[in-house]
Amino acid sequence: MTWIAALPLTNESNCNLIIGEGTIIGHLNHIYATGEIIIGKNVLTADKVYISDNLHKYEDVNIPVMHQGIRQLSKVKIGDGSWIGENVCVMGASIGRNCIIGANSVVTKDIPDYCVAVGSPARIIKKYNITLQKWEKV
Ligand SMILES: CC(C)(COP(=O)(O)OP(=O)(O)OC[C@H]1O[C@@H](n2cnc3c(N)ncnc32)[C@H](O)[C@@H]1OP(=O)(O)O)[C@@H](O)C(=O)NCCC(=O)NCCS
Repeated sequence: MTWIAALPLTNESNCNLIIGEGTIIGHLNHIYATGEIIIGKNVLTADKVYISDNLHKYEDVNIPVMHQGIRQLSKVKIGDGSWIGENVCVMGASIGRNCIIGANSVVTKDIPDYCVAVGSPARIIKKYNITLQKWEKV
């Protein structure tokens, strides 16, 4: 079971959630677009992955967080061929093509093409060297 939603809760004029051909979404994923989330082609998400372009507002401590409305974050794009590991959260950040995001990582900043990133916050640990055609540690 997975929760997939595209609802314009932040009053964006367009609200899109696009999932490309050949992409496999794991169990218990939670993917919620209020602006735009684009998941490319042939992306693999493991189980319990959270992908979102928004947050609950929390500015007013006198109001329960769930009643404070929603703040829009940056658009999210996950490039073709990427692999998103178990328990990963992607929040208002994009991931390039053929990237690997290690288990339990929290992605809050953009990750360029052909990178392995791990941790919370996710940091790049390997990059593919196109000239030498091999992965190199960063
Ligand atoms: C990211 C991943 C692919 C890296 O595999 P790898 O290229 O063989 O990487 P390495 O084992 O060489 O690890 C490199 C370093 O990153 C660390 N590392 C690897 N994965 C990590 C993770 N998820 N979180 C934090 N650190 C991690 C390693 O401990 C190692 O650290 P060191 O250099 O200090 O020893 C793998 O560790 C991973 O997390 N896979 C996801 C598995 C998954 O979710 N499967 C679901 C089924 S679809």
